[in-house]
Order: sequence, then C-alpha cells, then structure tokens
Amino acid sequence: MTDRRFFRQECYIAGEWVGPNGAAGDETVEVRNPATGEILGAVPNFGRDQTKRAIDAAYEAFPEWRSLPPQDRARYCMAIHDALMDNRDELGELLTIEMGKPLPEAIGEIAFGAAFFKWFSEEATRIYGDVIPSPWPNKRIILTKEPVGVVGAITPWNFPSAMLARKMAAALAAGCPIICKPAIETPFSAFAYGVIADDIGLPKGVLSIITGDPAPIADEFCENPKLRKITFTGSTAVGKGLASKALAHMKRVSMELGGHAPLIIFDDADLERAVEGAMISKFRNSGQTCVCSNRIYVQAGLYDEFAERFSAKARALKVGDGLESGIQQGPLITEKAVLKVEDHIADATQKGASVIAGGKRDHLGLTFFEPTVLRDVTADMKIMREETFGPVAPLIKFDSEEEVVIQANNTEYGLAAYVYTNDLGRSWRMIDALEYGMIAINEGVSSTPVAPFGGVKGSGQGREGSRYGLDDYINIKYALIGGLEK
Ligand code: SIN
Repeated sequence: MTDRRFFRQECYIAGEWVGPNGAAGDETVEVRNPATGEILGAVPNFGRDQTKRAIDAAYEAFPEWRSLPPQDRARYCMAIHDALMDNRDELGELLTIEMGKPLPEAIGEIAFGAAFFKWFSEEATRIYGDVIPSPWPNKRIILTKEPVGVVGAITPWNFPSAMLARKMAAALAAGCPIICKPAIETPFSAFAYGVIADDIGLPKGVLSIITGDPAPIADEFCENPKLRKITFTGSTAVGKGLASKALAHMKRVSMELGGHAPLIIFDDADLERAVEGAMISKFRNSGQTCVCSNRIYVQAGLYDEFAERFSAKARALKVGDGLESGIQQGPLITEKAVLKVEDHIADATQKGASVIAGGKRDHLGLTFFEPTVLRDVTADMKIMREETFGPVAPLIKFDSEEEVVIQANNTEYGLAAYVYTNDLGRSWRMIDALEYGMIAINEGVSSTPVAPFGGVKGSGQGREGSRYGLDDYINIKYALIGGLEK
C-alpha cells in the first residue's frame, strides 16, 4: 500500500482507537485479500460490552450534535467529502485489497460515497417543518422535525465504503450520532472513516466503528434503549430476523435487502445499447451487487443475436487481481461465494441450460470465476429464484409483454428492474407494471445520491439518498398551540 495512514486495525469508539486488550473474549479476526489469500491484518472481535460503550458515547454526544446549527453539521459532512476525494486513490487501493474489485471501480466507489456527504451536507440545511391549517380559530398546528437519536448501522462487504457513506451522511446531517458495524471481511475501509473523523475534529462519540460477530452487536443495537434506529444492508434472510427483533423493541428500521433484478430486452430495443447495459448491470463488481440483473429476459426476435454479442463481450472481460492494470473482473469475496455460483450453474445445466461463455473457475485461483452466460434458462431453475451474487447471466426467451411482466414479478424480491425498449408507451407501461422500487429504462445502472435507493416486498423498506433519504432519520413532532384568544 502506498499510504498506510488509513490502515488501522483497531475499532474507533468514542473518539479513541481501541484494540483487543487481552481481556477474556477480546479476540481478533483475520482479514484476507480475496485475490491472493494473503492475511492483511486482524481486527477486534468485539461484542456487547464494547457496543454498549459506543452507544453510551453516542448518547452523550447526541444533545450537542442535534443542537448544532445545520450549517455546522453540513460543514462536517463536506469535510468528510473533501477528505474522501483528496485521498481517493489511497482509499481505493485499500478497498481493492480487502474486497477485490478493480482499482478504477474502487476509486469510483470512494467518489460515489463522497457524493452522499456532499448531497446530505446540502440537505441538512433544508429540514423544514410545517404549519397545518387549523380547524380551530384560536389554535395553531405546528410540525417540527427532530433527529431520531442514536443510530446503529450494519453494512455489507460488497461496497465497503459507499454503503457506510449512504447511512452515515444521512444520519450525521439529520443530527444523529451513528455506530457502524462493517462486514468482518472488509473492515479497513470503514476504519478509514475513523482516521478522517480524527482529522476533521468530528466531536467524540458522534461516530464509532466497531467490528465483531454480528449477533451480539445486533442484539445490543436491538435491546439497548439508548439506541433508537437500526439501518441494515444485507440479505433478506438476515434482514427479516433483525427487523423483527428490532421491532420487538420498537426501534425505527431501514432495511436494504436482497434483489433478483430482471433485465428485459424487447424486440424494439437498441441492441448495442442493451448489450452494453446488460454487461454493466450484470458484471459490475463481478456480479456482487444487490441490484445486479439476475434474470435477463430477451424477446424472441432478438434472442439469438443478443446471446451471441453478449457472450462474446463476457468472454472478453479481463479477470484478475484488481490492483493490476486493465482488470475488469476481480475475485469473488470468498470461496463460499464461488461454490454458490457453481451450484447455480450445475443446477441450470442439469435442467437443460447451456453454457455459452465461461462456466468454470478461472485458472488464477480459488476465488476467481469466469464471467458466465447461460442460455435456454427456464423458470424451474434455482438461479431464477435465488440471488446468485456472482458473474452468471441467465438468458430467458419470451414472446409477449404480458408474459414477461408476470415472469419478472414472480419473485419475493422487488429492488431494481431494467427495461430496454424504444417504445415510449411500453416504457410507461413497464414502469407502472413492474413491482420494484427502482426501474431503469435503457440504462444498466441507476444508483445516484440524488435519487431514492430502496425496494419493496422482500427487498426491504426505507429509502437511501435523495431528499427522501433524510426522512428515515427524522421524527415528526406535532405541537398544538392554544389559548390565542384575547
Ligand atoms: C448494493 O449492491 O447494495 C448497492 C449497489 C448500488 O448502489 O448500485
């Protein structure tokens, strides 16, 4: 690594760096580079006690943080934005070695995360209240908006920096201190926020970053009365369990859960554009995003030509260690992830699908997998129901608009969907008919800080980014003012 200043192996709690001190239960967890298997370092395996310490510090910091003029909170958010942008090359490198994505994508992720701090620094100053026309002559109805309080955030490994940014920027702007628990596979990009917090003089306790076994940390988040909200990005199965535990203690929850995105290409689409869109939508981050297309439906008239052009492009992707120049596909996060990909391919081929690109582990090592395209995929295959989270693109042939809408909606998920068509009426019909939180027409990526990210059905609840993203961190308070008569 060119700059080791951001490489910390301790948790950041109440403005201090805290390592395991040898006391019982204070073990560490090794973190490996998924491309090489090399051990990068070891981070604390903290549990409920240290989580409680972080919550206590956040609770103490809350009154002052919420009382700051929003312009001051905005300045802190902009300072984090500037620090991320000024150090994006070093932070990108750190992200690549712990997560595996190609360096340009990693640097792009740092800039993407920074953009949330900029966006919410602006939104911080626009948290308006309201006045409701009163039904009584001598009373007034006023609504004020208040931060929900201390927030606990649990984030995944696939975007180790930006998923934290999405939550942290909104929480800080709204006036909420936040405790972040990053995935144990990718803690270093999270700890880098602690270095930045020190550099910019963020008040102690407003941000803590803690690593460890998810269960005790989540239990403390759910049960500690000083913590008022839990925000989680991860799988639907884990999210459902966490949400029900959190709701038993009446915490506010935001859940960004799994997806199973359909990408639908109609005969009237611009084929070249559809191929490009499907490439980025499927193979970005080696297929490890919850908005990756997991089912590619192609209308009968374009099916063969699309399959040929798309599989040629998939075969041409350069696989390798994300630090090397020109690499387009990094490793998967663990060998377990590779096993799931293999299972989906084996199940599909046993049931009649054919592999027209890739299909096996890359010669580079255990976590590398060839970008894969399957054709003649049918509804009975596992890949049509379960999130693959890997570089496998199943192609399904369809005939009519009515049929494809039914198939696309036939899933427990409802996060993102993509449609390629040049028919304006059809575009609108698809926006109306698809049961998803985000629909992209003629585009393969839709994420941006200015638009609301989030799903329906099993993909969760709540929205991140956009002006709606602050609502998840805010309580509305109703004040009735009476006695106005003389
Ligand atoms: C995710 O996979 O959770 C986020 C992907 C994105 O923001 O595009």
